[in-house]
Amino acid sequence: MIRCFPLVLVLFAFCGDPLEEPAVAKYREGLKADQLQGFDAYARNNCHGCHGLNGDGTGPLNAGHRYSIPDFRNADTFRNGSDVSSIQHSIEFGVKNGKTGMQAYQNIPVEKREKIAEYIHSLANP
Ligand code: HEC
Repeated sequence: MIRCFPLVLVLFAFCGDPLEEPAVAKYREGLKADQLQGFDAYARNNCHGCHGLNGDGTGPLNAGHRYSIPDFRNADTFRNGSDVSSIQHSIEFGVKNGKTGMQAYQNIPVEKREKIAEYIHSLANP
């Protein structure tokens, strides 16, 4: 029985909903109703790992500025277009085949990618 214990820990780590993490839940409280669906998909796909909860590009996976990441709060910093369809394109195909650190997210259903793109767009256009 004791041998199952590490497995239980691993399952727990992968089953937790990111929206229930206290920092995520707290940030979510400050959002507008029409941002929630997009934010939920953003958080559940761990976009905030690199892009940060507020989109500033300082998520934990970007510790030490390992990547060069635009600030979603400032439309001028986007390199591939800050309108909703350009943002969707970046999510669908990644940036430079993922060599930049931004991979393609074709696993995310298209309606969710659209919501995420609208959410990111709303950060740059509050
Ligand atoms: C491993 C880190 C990482 C993760 C996770 C990540 N990104 Fe990125 N993202 C980047 C980097 C780095 C760039 C900048 C690429 C470049 O231009 O050099 C980027 C760029 C982008 C851009 C293009 C912005 C522009 O400059 O036009 C969008 C949109 C974007 N990411 C959305 C997302 C979304 C949505 C998710 C989650 C589904 C996500 N990213 C997850 C690292 C990441």
